[in-house]
Amino acid sequence: MRAVTLRRDQTARGPLILVNAAHPLRPAGDPELTAPDGRYPDVLLERRAAGLLAACIRAAGGLEDIVPVSGWRSRAQQQSIWDDTWAREGEAFTRRYVALPGCSEHQTGLAIDLGKPAEHMDFIRPDFPWEGACGAFRRLAPAYGFILRYPREKEALTGIGEEPWHFRYVGAPHAALMERHGLCLEEYGPFLRTGPKTCLLSDGRRIRVSRLACPGETVEAELPEGCCQISGDNDGGFILTVWEAPA
Ligand code: DAL
Ligand code: ZN
Repeated sequence: MRAVTLRRDQTARGPLILVNAAHPLRPAGDPELTAPDGRYPDVLLERRAAGLLAACIRAAGGLEDIVPVSGWRSRAQQQSIWDDTWAREGEAFTRRYVALPGCSEHQTGLAIDLGKPAEHMDFIRPDFPWEGACGAFRRLAPAYGFILRYPREKEALTGIGEEPWHFRYVGAPHAALMERHGLCLEEYGPFLRTGPKTCLLSDGRRIRVSRLACPGETVEAELPEGCCQISGDNDGGFILTVWEAPA
């Protein structure tokens, strides 16, 4: 075991941060961004998420049938999307499909809107069908670490209308746990607060996930040797992921 000291401000960064109207993005440094598809150089994602998105699209046979529509957005871009949508579509539509500026997970570089190519693609609500390559992408997405972030049955919890086109990178162990237990990201933190969880990944490795609260300025974490990830949850704590060695 080794001990590390984690600072409260670090709870604002990492692939598992919760970002919604009640959990605004906090300053955590700019993500390292890259284009998942070189044909769309303006659509950017955090580097690791971009590589896994590209791999998932390839595995789904979607190179010609899936277009990245919107990835990372600055706060100013989110504000102008909010203002334009409000002017064109009104308040109810805007609140349903556009996150408040400062509270959009697009600002993290971990969220991507995908669409099926068409002559006129809707930037706010792109068509991303349930069948074909888009459907194949959706089925494969958790194995590559992406969750469908705004399902219809979770609208009351996410505060956002159903968005079949919006995917969020969280990492494969967490996508697997959320899928298995039917949880959206808003429910995942409370789920982990009930105690550590384990999960067997498709590659045979076992992972252990636990949450560490950070009530003060710092907290000590005891980490096992080996492969481990620490992410803030943007909700006062950290999520620890440990890849356990095979028995
Ligand atoms: N469409 C999602 C909710 C966003 O604007 O971040
Ligand atoms: Zn989106």
